[in-house]
Amino acid sequence: MSSNAELKLDGKTYSLPTLIGTEGERAVDISQLRAQSGHITLDEGYGNTGACKSKITFIDGDLGILRYRGIPIEELAEKSTFVEVAHLLIMGKLPNSAELKRFSDLLTQNELLHEDLKHNFEGFPRHAHPMAILSSMINAVSCFYPELLDTSMHKNHFEIEAARLISQVRTIAAFAYRKSHGLPINYPKPALKYTANFLHMMFSKPYEEYPLDPEVVRALDLIFLLHADHEQNCSTSTVRMVASSKANMFASCAAGVCALWGPLHGGANQAVLEMLGEIHASGDDGCKFINAAKDKNSGKKLMGFGHRVYKNYDPRAKIIKKACDEVLAKLKINDPLLDIAKKLEEAALKESYFIERKLYPNVDFYSGIIMRALGIPLEMFTVIFAIGRMPGWIANYREVMEEPAGRISRPRQVYVGPVNQQYVPIKERK
Ligand code: CMC
Repeated sequence: MSSNAELKLDGKTYSLPTLIGTEGERAVDISQLRAQSGHITLDEGYGNTGACKSKITFIDGDLGILRYRGIPIEELAEKSTFVEVAHLLIMGKLPNSAELKRFSDLLTQNELLHEDLKHNFEGFPRHAHPMAILSSMINAVSCFYPELLDTSMHKNHFEIEAARLISQVRTIAAFAYRKSHGLPINYPKPALKYTANFLHMMFSKPYEEYPLDPEVVRALDLIFLLHADHEQNCSTSTVRMVASSKANMFASCAAGVCALWGPLHGGANQAVLEMLGEIHASGDDGCKFINAAKDKNSGKKLMGFGHRVYKNYDPRAKIIKKACDEVLAKLKINDPLLDIAKKLEEAALKESYFIERKLYPNVDFYSGIIMRALGIPLEMFTVIFAIGRMPGWIANYREVMEEPAGRISRPRQVYVGPVNQQYVPIKERK
């Protein structure tokens, strides 16, 4: 049962409604606070701010719990596939056989990029980062579907747009990789399933089909699935923010790709491998690096460690660590970077610095090692994260667009700049 909270300000008492989420999360509703009291709240980095109500994903960071639409991530990782999970997130339910077939067919029917888009790829310099190409090209796709721009008609074309975006992000990603390596592009094959098709587009040669090892396909599918949603993180909140202006789905999700790119967010998977490679090249077993990561003046952080919400082991990291051991064993790969990662983890978890701050491995700590074993190049790691996250972004986009009382997102600020200055003509300026 929710009750009201009381806030005393300048001798007056304000009554603020509270609410409780279905998993017991408690919130104070301050939406009328400014109108009533003239005060706003300040929460830099939004650590204490609920920006929305959502039915998609639940995280309990203290207990290390993650559920998509109520289903534990561990169960989905073991029993499900990325495409099934995409349906679960976007449509709100696990698909039955007919629904899954329909959804898979929609993905296949929409996998080809408009042929004219090939010219856009030509404009990027060789070695352009594929995240830059990905975000630009997702936005460019919207130019070919003018009906997208009328977002008041969103409900009429939502399913097809969602399928188009999920399917084409994978085509764009593979084309971006081929382009950055000066390789001819591979078109998708309708007979292949989602993840197998991506591997084909990435790695088939004109004279030799990429041999699709089921272990490799399953491992990459698992990575997509584990990244599929993660509630209100930096990129998803960006998607929701852009969507709140009634921008189209492609524009909103392209913004999500940009937000994901940074090394504190999705870019951490690339940064982890770079860090492990540096440690390996320097001959350090990780101990020196741990000391540097504890020293705020060193400019180093233990990448792949820590999380705003998890103050416990990230459940995705647990699954990925196990998968990492299995995949490397099956592919008979002995990667010294995995040994360094394990030593780093072991050492960090004994250090008071990490214990006191509740810093544990996150999803990015081991995912790069699997991707490296699968032959995915380093600069594509964050792109893989983006492909995986697309269903989550689309599900959040849908929630924003279908919220009847939805308002544009527009935070306030506490202004701390100069007050009422006069314009000084250029000749008189110092
Ligand atoms: N290495 C060393 N110290 C750290 C680390 C780290 N990886 N992460 C946090 N800290 C320290 C931080 O300096 C601070 O110390 P103090 O209290 O003495 O000032 C304390 O721990 C709390 O950290 P914070 O920076 O206030 O935490 P945050 O919630 O603002 O940031 C984070 C979360 C994930 C950005 C941060 O932990 C980090 O930079 N980690 C490394 C990058 C990384 O792995 N990012 C991927 C996150 S998971 C994938 C995703 O969803 O994006």
